[in-house]
Amino acid sequence: VTSAAEVQLRLLKRLAARDAGEAQPGAFVGEVPASDYLSPARFALEQERVFAREPQVVAAECEVAGSGSCLATEIAGIGVLITRGADGALRAFRNACRHRSTRLVEPGAPCVKKALVCPYHGWTYDLAGRLIHVPRAEAFEGRERERERLTPVHVAARHGLVFASLEAFDADALTAPIAELADFGLAGHFAYRRVEREVRGNWKLTIDAFLEAYHVRHLHRGTIYRFFADSSAEVERAGPHIRALTARRALADADLDRAEDVRQLATPTYYVFPNAIAIFHPDYVSVVISTPLAPGRSRFTHVLAIPGEPADAAEAEHRHKSFELIDSGVFLAEDLFAVEAMQAGLESGASSSLLFGEHEFAALWFHESLGERCAAGVSAARSD
Ligand code: FES
Ligand SMILES: [Fe+2]
Repeated sequence: VTSAAEVQLRLLKRLAARDAGEAQPGAFVGEVPASDYLSPARFALEQERVFAREPQVVAAECEVAGSGSCLATEIAGIGVLITRGADGALRAFRNACRHRSTRLVEPGAPCVKKALVCPYHGWTYDLAGRLIHVPRAEAFEGRERERERLTPVHVAARHGLVFASLEAFDADALTAPIAELADFGLAGHFAYRRVEREVRGNWKLTIDAFLEAYHVRHLHRGTIYRFFADSSAEVERAGPHIRALTARRALADADLDRAEDVRQLATPTYYVFPNAIAIFHPDYVSVVISTPLAPGRSRFTHVLAIPGEPADAAEAEHRHKSFELIDSGVFLAEDLFAVEAMQAGLESGASSSLLFGEHEFAALWFHESLGERCAAGVSAARSD
């Protein structure tokens, strides 16, 4: 297995070998039809063939590290509950009571619980999903015993990310192409904050926005452009995933053979199929998940993970300011602003396709992988 240091150094050397703004060798230009973002038929296909079938990142593992941790999320519109049991095992269930299907835990920030108590009549489950208490159980004539477990969902943590799926999956095969991610130590980080917000934009627009550095100079000119070289990134396909390294200004006069911390020189970013991005800032990590809700609506989830708990109030204050800059100042006010502005333009019918240039072609890889899964689903359905 190649280490993260080797992978990053390889990319770093390629980045350093060309001028800022010079396209990567092999870069290409392409278009994505507007209908891929707008059409309800395409949306349904993605939900059915990708989100309802394939594993996807639902959380950072550090969000559900402690026993009793609980996180309500969703897959293909279906409520899913992730728990860490008293035995330390990570599990996932449908977030629905076995009595009359009431949602057990409200979506949002992770919480810690001793048991899952249904808000309606108080049926109670342990963190392993076993029904442990039914008020007035005698009134069910023994039928409650046929419902003694929450409905399971497949889940596995790899490299600090929690993957869940409605269908069984091989987590090792899934993450093998990006095996070096393990070296970043995300699993041992602390979850600083999870923020979710609804976006008036197709979920893929958000992924597109994290797959190119072309917009940094203009969209982020008042915030993070001061740290980055213009349009200077190296990208690679890794199975259905994509690894990218975006040059920071410090790279220009760095001695690569003496570089101790790649993250001071360039920012590693991993797109994890189908809808997550992990960004390794110099001192912390952002995990971004873009969840489809409707053709023109999505949920943006941002988890900020830090390497250790703040030592003192000053450090806590510094963390807080960094989080505000990246989450509100950059992601919300700039990237998501652009996503909503693109959605508006798309919906107006102004263009029948979006154009991606040589600094944006990684987004075309993403669209290709996704399109293949949607098409494969279609032909499989036909041959059924
Ligand atoms: S629906 Fe959950 S206890 Fe009745
Ligand atoms: Fe951005």
